[in-house]
Amino acid sequence: MTRLPMMAGNWKMNNTISEAVVLTQELSYQLEHDWDDVEVVLCPPYTDLKPVLTVLDYDKSAVKVAAQNVFWEEKGAFTGEISVRMIKEIGCAYSIVGHSERREIFEESDESVNKKVKALVAAGLGAIVCVGESLFVRDEGIALMFVEGQLRAAFAGLEPNDAAKCVVAYEPIWAIGTGRTATPEQAEEVCAMLRETIAHMFGGACAEEMRILYGGSMNTGNVDMLLAMPNIDGGLVGGASLEAASFSQLVKACRK
Ligand code: PGA
Repeated sequence: MTRLPMMAGNWKMNNTISEAVVLTQELSYQLEHDWDDVEVVLCPPYTDLKPVLTVLDYDKSAVKVAAQNVFWEEKGAFTGEISVRMIKEIGCAYSIVGHSERREIFEESDESVNKKVKALVAAGLGAIVCVGESLFVRDEGIALMFVEGQLRAAFAGLEPNDAAKCVVAYEPIWAIGTGRTATPEQAEEVCAMLRETIAHMFGGACAEEMRILYGGSMNTGNVDMLLAMPNIDGGLVGGASLEAASFSQLVKACRK
């Protein structure tokens, strides 16, 4: 089975509404409209979701939109949080969950990642679940074990058909925003383990279907080598997604 590649741009805390509109217009212009061989996803900050979707709707673009985070409760006294229903109604197809910056800076636990994944799939949305080890963990020689633990915790208690709605992003923390990419072999080793773990948890069909992305200083210079790996189905891209020229090249690299 061939999986549909995904190229997702994680804008992080960048772009005001006016900047987001310009970037989306540029991107939409640079990407051709008549493609169905790659799923392109933009992950802007909450304040940009509606303006970005408005530009994409106007252009009849197939580009999808994801939130960068979401809270698992339905509604109520949770100041500062955004619910799954809110991002669904606005038009998001996915939310990123458990990005390493959320885990490190905002102390998100494996348990909260799991609750968020469950809330998203219950509403029919997909989760882009981030996993990845620190340099310390890699140097200790326990990266595979650590990342497998994160994956198992994130997907605990899910049904196979719900798990299949999700995407996994392997993002070694030491490669994020550092310019230091994992070698294709390092990334492939972890991504192959992730697929095998999915097969153990949910069966071979689910593992075959699930997209596994690489993230961490992916750019136009290294994308081809990373995508050539059998278990890497696309990218979750930070820095290189902030310019239309580089992000559209990354999208095109998925189409070969
Ligand atoms: P980067 O970020 O491409 O800037 O390394 C990737 C990410 O954090 O998703």
